[in-house]
Amino acid sequence: MFRLICLTILTVLFISGCGENTSSPDKPILMKFSHVTSPTTPKGQGAERFKALVEERLAGRVKIEVYPSGQLLNDDDSLEALAFGEIHMIATSLSKFDRLTHKFQLFDLPFMFRDLATVELFQASPSGRALLTELVDRGLLGLAFWHNGMKQFGGPKALHKPEDSKGLKFRIMESDVLQAQIMQMGGNPQKMAFGEVYQALQTGAVDAQENTWSNIYSSKFFEVQPVLTETNHGYLGYMVAVNPTFWDSLPADIRTELNAIVTEVAAWVNERAAKINQESKQKIESTGRSKIIPLSVEELAHWQNSMQPVWRQFEEDIGLDLINAAQAVSIK
Ligand code: LMR
Repeated sequence: MFRLICLTILTVLFISGCGENTSSPDKPILMKFSHVTSPTTPKGQGAERFKALVEERLAGRVKIEVYPSGQLLNDDDSLEALAFGEIHMIATSLSKFDRLTHKFQLFDLPFMFRDLATVELFQASPSGRALLTELVDRGLLGLAFWHNGMKQFGGPKALHKPEDSKGLKFRIMESDVLQAQIMQMGGNPQKMAFGEVYQALQTGAVDAQENTWSNIYSSKFFEVQPVLTETNHGYLGYMVAVNPTFWDSLPADIRTELNAIVTEVAAWVNERAAKINQESKQKIESTGRSKIIPLSVEELAHWQNSMQPVWRQFEEDIGLDLINAAQAVSIK
């Protein structure tokens, strides 16, 4: 609650203190883009491409500083820093907006989307696009969605069925749906920042975690998890967001060009994300450090059925209309 009050106060302070943002050849507008993954991940590559295109097309007018791998801030702090104008762009996991809106919980419902193509159809639909402006009053304007990939479970043993998780401590992102998912599996969920996961797995503070192949590879989680179960049970993606007041203060031609570049980079990231994750999976396999276990068709069906109570638990918060809209796309 304290953090929420701070966020609101900071937003108001920032809004009232904001004037017209101008650039000149010797003083370009500086935009700091902070995120938590490695430069090799879909998000890391997207951030670098955004910087390159902006500095080519708005040369001398806008300068982008990218801070990857949580060098500057963790995700929680970056939401506040964006509201205060200390940084100017984020690409934060949809799960981590949980404390600001329940609607994004849709993306965490287990087995909601079967693949990235289905997520993309939903995100491009009117219901999906409306989510980009859901948090404007809280100081966050979404410009685009970027994919990472589908999540897998890693830990000390194979999870052929949810019941195999009984008693294991799982690191999760800051999301009540993910917390309920792990409890439904019989595990013990622990919310934790991304930057703390490797050490927590190494020291045994947690036994297991869920993430995409690209994050598991680039953050070396495979070194400290002997078994990875290929469940594809959830989606990990991002909202690329700016502070709406900062955004409105930009000269119109710069804002239009930045918007066009963000949209172009979203298509570029989303086209590559699945491939980057497949390559990461192969690289993990080739290290021989973690065993990758696929699910049989029957095991997958059991997983999907077992997770239904989590849907029921959150359908009122998320809104049945939104869930139905996502499902309508999924069954096409
Ligand atoms: C996580 O915390 O596991 C992810 O949100 C990291 C990321 O940004 O992909």
